[in-house]
Amino acid sequence: MTDFSDQRVALVSGGNRGLGFAVAAQLAAQGIHVVMGVRDRLAGRDAETALGRKGLMVHSHVLDVTDPASVARAVADVAAPFGRLDILVNNAAVAIDRQQPAAAPDFEKIRATLDTNLLGAWRLSSAAIGEMRKNNFGRIVNITSHLGSQNNMGTGNVSYRVSKAGLNALTQILAAELDGTGILVNAAAPGRMNTRMAYEETDRTPEEAADTPVWLATLPDDGPTGGLFYERQPLTW
Ligand SMILES: NC(=O)c1ccc[n+]([C@@H]2O[C@H](COP(=O)([O-])OP(=O)(O)OC[C@H]3O[C@@H](n4cnc5c(N)ncnc54)[C@H](OP(=O)(O)O)[C@@H]3O)[C@@H](O)[C@H]2O)c1
Repeated sequence: MTDFSDQRVALVSGGNRGLGFAVAAQLAAQGIHVVMGVRDRLAGRDAETALGRKGLMVHSHVLDVTDPASVARAVADVAAPFGRLDILVNNAAVAIDRQQPAAAPDFEKIRATLDTNLLGAWRLSSAAIGEMRKNNFGRIVNITSHLGSQNNMGTGNVSYRVSKAGLNALTQILAAELDGTGILVNAAAPGRMNTRMAYEETDRTPEEAADTPVWLATLPDDGPTGGLFYERQPLTW
């Protein structure tokens, strides 16, 4: 049997496409055992095949971050064969109420957005922290957005903005709670990228944008925690 004891283990939510796929590929290229959390099993297989063609062996596991049972199962299944879960990238997100004014809220869309972007990351972090504590080591990277920045608050994408502002707060709260445990918690704003979620045409690829999340996922023990970063630079939010 392969001895994985020295190999880091990572879980990337929403790993089948966009930024999550690029982050999964770049972590795997560093020799990390990566599991892509995917909602759709077939999409996961396709992503595995695409990475396999690049010489990267990456696995997928069904994961819907809005479903507590799915979160618990995915974290347990990823950690069990290795006795560890070292890296969590909370990447999965939706943007579904772009034009809806805050003064005329569509609470169904707001609830769905918060359940995925904020509570989904919270659920997954909580489950992952349980595994990370066993080895006194962990790296949690929350994928945030400039739209969640307090300095950049404005109209449009209301529930998305609120979800990412909440995710920024959660990042700093968890980092403070976990200070001294070996678990570092940071957030990365990837900037506009050419993915299905993109708000405007842009040439920036998710591969380019993956640099900061990958850096935060592989920080040394004396790396930052509670930070919000864009292109490796700290942001004041
Ligand atoms: N694109 C941009 O310009 C931009 C800018 C700033 C920040 N971001 C952030 O970057 C991250 C990645 O976005 P992206 O542009 O790569 O988006 P994307 O291409 O739309 O990919 C989103 C991913 O999240 C998954 N997902 C959605 N709901 C989920 C759920 N309930 N459980 C598990 N997975 C779920 C999707 O799965 P399915 O394939 O099953 O739908 C997909 O894999 C997000 O956090 C986003 O907010 C993006």
